[in-house]
Amino acid sequence: MTIDALIVGAGFSGSVIARLLAENTKAKILVIDSRDHIGGNCYDYVNQYGIRVSKYGAHLFHTKRQDVWDFISSYGTWEPWEHKVLAKIYPRDGCDESVHVPVPVCIQTIQQLYDPSIETEEDMRRWLAEETKNVINAGPFKNSMESAVARFGRRIYNDFFRNYTWKQWNKYPEHLDSSVLERIPLRYDRDDRYFTDPIQMLPSCGYTQVFDQLLDHPQIEIKLGTDYFLERHCFNGVQFTVFTGPIDGYFASYGLDRLEYRSLHFEDFNINVEQNDAVVQPASVVNEPSMRVPYTRTVEFKQFLNQRSPYSTLVREYSSSFGEPYYPVPNDQNLELYSKYQQLAVKETGKERRNVQFLGRLANYKYLNMDQAIGNALDHWQQWKTEGFLKEMLA
Ligand code: FDA
Repeated sequence: MTIDALIVGAGFSGSVIARLLAENTKAKILVIDSRDHIGGNCYDYVNQYGIRVSKYGAHLFHTKRQDVWDFISSYGTWEPWEHKVLAKIYPRDGCDESVHVPVPVCIQTIQQLYDPSIETEEDMRRWLAEETKNVINAGPFKNSMESAVARFGRRIYNDFFRNYTWKQWNKYPEHLDSSVLERIPLRYDRDDRYFTDPIQMLPSCGYTQVFDQLLDHPQIEIKLGTDYFLERHCFNGVQFTVFTGPIDGYFASYGLDRLEYRSLHFEDFNINVEQNDAVVQPASVVNEPSMRVPYTRTVEFKQFLNQRSPYSTLVREYSSSFGEPYYPVPNDQNLELYSKYQQLAVKETGKERRNVQFLGRLANYKYLNMDQAIGNALDHWQQWKTEGFLKEMLA
């Protein structure tokens, strides 16, 4: 078919735009992805034990944005799910005894680990004030160690953040921007849910079904296993392109350094638990802040939506500098480099032509939750409509 719009990437950023274009214009749309499946990093599948597994790590949907929920909830079927995470802590050096405590840190965390007498929000505030009394507790902070110690004190910092950050980023918090650990929530109450957003859901039949429905439209064609960088010459004549791949790949021929990312490696194993409702670990996600194991967390997928199987599938996550780009590394050097790519993107988008748009977590070099990726696509769509530059296709 003749294509009016090319969408590079079948994750949420690309698929939401494809759907909006299809519903609101007469454009013929081609969605390509270099992978052999749709869904981007949210892709999931049912494995040989009947357990739904996310190929690229656990994905929990949560949002404050009603418009995002109104949009996405019409694709697939969804059910409420409040996510809880435990951290495995070794309270005594040299001793193998471990305790599973809730994260984010809340009253129960302090009770179980440090002080059983903490009962109320007032106790919690007093306890934290005591923990932080001898540290610098007014910003601006020079790095993430200072910002975390100021809020949590040294004990929590050492037990929960110092080594975990090393495993996750290959850098200790003192070498990361203060904003990284500033984003970690701290609860003064007993709320042990991982997220506090009013809308917390999981798709009953998985994210891949949501994407199947999003992309199911007569004006949308999908080509998988198609790498834009290898085949971009085939798309020279396309009127409008939305690119959701890595921005440094798009401008690779400009000779700038490549952007730094952290990647993940997944190690899965299956255990025969014999009973349909038996599970292996005390929560769906167990974080591992200690240096005793090299992985950062273990996810037991069976626990999401209480799936039933005589087996359980567990996946350990190892953070690494090599492999697929997952997390941008937010430091001054990378942000400065990204701003150079951004300038190239602005030129490419070009005021008169406006024919290439850069969207999503890889093109914007920014970690986005799913709701942010969807919200960002909805916002861009509104903006393009207001500016009238989709007029020809909308006609
Ligand atoms: P996404 O990466 O999904 O899609 C981009 C697509 O472009 C990919 O499919 C890629 O193959 C394709 N592509 C790249 N280059 C290409 C090329 N040259 N040619 C063709 N195609 C190309 N969020 C949340 O809300 N709750 C959660 O629990 C989690 N959990 C989570 C765990 C882990 C381990 C990660 C890494 C991320 C999360 N997220 C999350 C974030 C979530 O994955 C993220 O918001 C979305 O994937 C963003 O969607 P995008 O479409 O922007 O990127």
